[in-house]
Amino acid sequence: MVDHDQAASDHAGGYWDDQARTSPEQFNFPLWRRYCDLLHSRWLRSWLKSRTFTKVLKTDLFEEALGDGLADVLATLTLPGGECHGVDVSSVLAAQALKRHPSLRVHCGDVRCLPLAAEQFDLVVSDSTLDHFAHPAELQKALSELHRVMAPGGLLALTLDNPQHPLVALRNHFGGPWMGRSAVMPYFVGHTLGLRQLSGELRALGFELLCDDHLMHAPRLLALHLSRLWPAEGPAAHWFLRSLLACEGLARLPTARFSGHFVAILARKPKAPASSP
Ligand SMILES: C[S@@+](CC[C@H](N)C(=O)[O-])C[C@H]1O[C@@H](n2cnc3c(N)ncnc32)[C@H](O)[C@@H]1O
Repeated sequence: MVDHDQAASDHAGGYWDDQARTSPEQFNFPLWRRYCDLLHSRWLRSWLKSRTFTKVLKTDLFEEALGDGLADVLATLTLPGGECHGVDVSSVLAAQALKRHPSLRVHCGDVRCLPLAAEQFDLVVSDSTLDHFAHPAELQKALSELHRVMAPGGLLALTLDNPQHPLVALRNHFGGPWMGRSAVMPYFVGHTLGLRQLSGELRALGFELLCDDHLMHAPRLLALHLSRLWPAEGPAAHWFLRSLLACEGLARLPTARFSGHFVAILARKPKAPASSP
């Protein structure tokens, strides 16, 4: 059963419900989804290694509603007997995710005002959820909500659209007229932060920063269009996915901040200092 919250019935929930109901064909290219899932799974495994967690939260259930998403990798990161939660503002996407992944504990709620108790999650994964707000203050509020629900010592793995990527920069600059009308931008995208600004926001909230990087170096537009035409299964699909993933080698070049579609950060909420006797 999807756990509903009042906040989910506001404008944001309605917008994303409409998107999920009326234009699923704009979102759902199986090969593209597999690429995104593989890329994000590899990202999490490379940073979290063999660490395991007792209570995991993923913000937005978009990928899990449309396909495998990160459900498998999150399950392997969760200790036996642990809990894996997901939250999305869209009740439609939350219900679809639950249908595909019945072991997920699914909440319908807004990441700017999470319907979740404080200090409980030792891992929060937020992949490009917080870059859909119109105002910088909303992104700040969402970051502080993630901090609130995290247990002391917990980890936050977060990505946002990279404002230095030329496509993101162009899209955000000319955003209005394109919004929701092209495969480049089938839905609302909003304010985002570069690595330096994001690091500053996280430090201001009290996080310690552990790693940062740029992610998704494949030429996104070309890959997105090709993935609609390419065979979704078999050796050709396998070759296509391997080629896209090989582009992550560009992360080692000085140009990484322009080629990576996302900025990615791993941060820790410090343990509370031991109280003096
Ligand atoms: C278009 S998807 C993109 C994110 C996806 N993780 C990805 O990387 O492709 C945006 C997702 O964020 C969810 N979302 C948007 N605003 C939200 C909010 N305020 N709180 C929680 N989820 C939100 C939407 O319902 C949708 O599932």
